[in-house]
Amino acid sequence: MVASAGPFLDSLPHNLGPNRSVALSGKIRPVATVADSNHLTRPEFMISLVAAMARNRVIGNGPEIPWKVPGEQKIFRCLTEGKVVVMGRKTYESIGRPLPNRTTIVISRKEGYVTQGCLTASSFQMAMELGMTLGDELVVAGGAEVYRLALPYADRIHLTTLAQAFDGDATFPEISEDFVITSTEAVDALIPYTYALYERRA
Ligand SMILES: NC(=O)c1ccc[n+]([C@@H]2O[C@H](COP(=O)([O-])OP(=O)(O)OC[C@H]3O[C@@H](n4cnc5c(N)ncnc54)[C@H](OP(=O)(O)O)[C@@H]3O)[C@@H](O)[C@H]2O)c1
Repeated sequence: MVASAGPFLDSLPHNLGPNRSVALSGKIRPVATVADSNHLTRPEFMISLVAAMARNRVIGNGPEIPWKVPGEQKIFRCLTEGKVVVMGRKTYESIGRPLPNRTTIVISRKEGYVTQGCLTASSFQMAMELGMTLGDELVVAGGAEVYRLALPYADRIHLTTLAQAFDGDATFPEISEDFVITSTEAVDALIPYTYALYERRA
């Protein structure tokens, strides 16, 4: 089905919830725990991945996303505004600032890594623990390394796929049969793209 960008975005299965945006910086100690298995200590807590990839699974080239498709980034904004977002240090530095109206957790192994206006965590587990103290959902915003870390914990994946291949060195991981597509929508844009919602099988 081909939809215009407006109705398409309106129909996105998002749940923005209350705006919990806070301006914080520095390291935070975890106060909740993440079990050894994939089961978190708060069952209602959800982990979502949001990504856009080219037909050949490329998501980035160096620090850049190698395309600009008008309207496509609205999906990311719609799914992340008001939420707690986690991203890798390289993605954060490629953006160069905290995203407005989100609480951003940046993960880095660098001792004492400090950002202006974001939280930092030294592992994905620590980011999950921190996310649990801040809201009911943690949205994983990339890049490739962090998507791979997050995938085993993901409850759902919001994946946009462009109908064109691009050169690049960062790719979105393969999605296993643990997930099922529950919703798709095609958008006829400068480069046509398809949005798909993947949900973890019960
Ligand atoms: N198309 C999309 O939807 C999308 C979305 C986001 C990003 N991107 C693209 O993705 C590319 C960046 O991806 P990337 O894989 O190179 O980098 P990344 O995932 O953004 O960040 C990697 C960094 O995260 C930290 N990290 C990774 N694993 C960690 C761990 N286990 N514990 C603690 N810290 C850890 C490390 O930081 P330190 O080196 O500081 O230790 C590592 O260098 C860019 O091209 C960007 O534009 C695309």
